[in-house]
Amino acid sequence: MRAVQIDRHGGPEVLTVRHIPEPVPAEGEVLIAVTASSLNPVDWKTRAWEVGPPLPATLGWDLAGRVVATEDPGYQVGDEVIAMSAQIATGRGTWAELVSLPAHLLAPAPTSLPLTEAAALPLAGTTALQALRAAELGPGERLLITGAVGGVGALAVQLARHTGAQVDALVSRPEHRSAALELGAERAWHRTADLPTGHYHAILDTAGVDTSNALARNGRYVSISDTPLPAVPGARKSYVQENATDLTHLTELIDTGDLRLRIAEHHSVTHIRTAHEHFEAGGLLGKVLITF
Ligand SMILES: NC(=O)c1ccc[n+]([C@@H]2O[C@H](COP(=O)([O-])OP(=O)(O)OC[C@H]3O[C@@H](n4cnc5c(N)ncnc54)[C@H](OP(=O)(O)O)[C@@H]3O)[C@@H](O)[C@H]2O)c1
Repeated sequence: MRAVQIDRHGGPEVLTVRHIPEPVPAEGEVLIAVTASSLNPVDWKTRAWEVGPPLPATLGWDLAGRVVATEDPGYQVGDEVIAMSAQIATGRGTWAELVSLPAHLLAPAPTSLPLTEAAALPLAGTTALQALRAAELGPGERLLITGAVGGVGALAVQLARHTGAQVDALVSRPEHRSAALELGAERAWHRTADLPTGHYHAILDTAGVDTSNALARNGRYVSISDTPLPAVPGARKSYVQENATDLTHLTELIDTGDLRLRIAEHHSVTHIRTAHEHFEAGGLLGKVLITF
């Protein structure tokens, strides 16, 4: 079967689509024929930086596909599933035609979307949900989300609105402001200098930009980015955890129409290098998908 692997760290040129042996599911695992995955920043960072599992390694965290064999009684051949696999820690990459994962990582795929689009949900959605939980929002509180039209930010804006929060957005460029408003943000800024001082009960930083001047006294500052936290009391990082209960909740929100995914580009896995180049260039509105 085909898989996207790296033998060394570097630019998109180190990505290789090669044939490797098919995985055999162990007890409690499910073998999935992958329909699609998506690109997340962790994928290019694992490719480019000296991080991640021993090489050669198969990359990829997101997965949407169909069960083709199962060693877990909870699944049947043909079931449509999604999953997030913490590849950097476990080495279980999802960019392969067949992937075997522990059943406890899987959730039903949304029924209202094609599997190709559902692949945009797992990592970004789980990260947004868990980071918002860490922000401990109360009803009516004011929240600022930075990187608000990015993969995580776009879902976080929508999820935060469902909690009753008043959500404002910081985006990277003026032409992205309208997309943030469409997601449910009340105001959208593109310059940190314009943000109201001491205004927000909570800030969720997905862009690695210091907006702590806009945080109210005793506010909560949660960051998912790699950049150092600003020196504000209680500022904390949120790191995404594999969690099928969260994924199932996200699936339900998609199927009730309460959560929307935006897709910027689809690429065949054979064009994985181009997909990385486009993604790293930035400026996209929506996720980059890879189809198998
Ligand atoms: N801690 C965790 O568990 C975890 C989980 C998931 C992701 N992450 C990290 O979180 C970050 C965001 O992930 P993602 O998937 O949302 O990435 P993404 O899809 O690339 O989105 C990032 C967004 O931030 C915008 N941005 C960049 N600089 C900005 C600035 N100065 N002001 C406002 N917006 C700015 C980008 O705009 P442009 O495209 O125009 O640059 C883009 O819209 C990445 O660093 C990723 O590695 C961490």
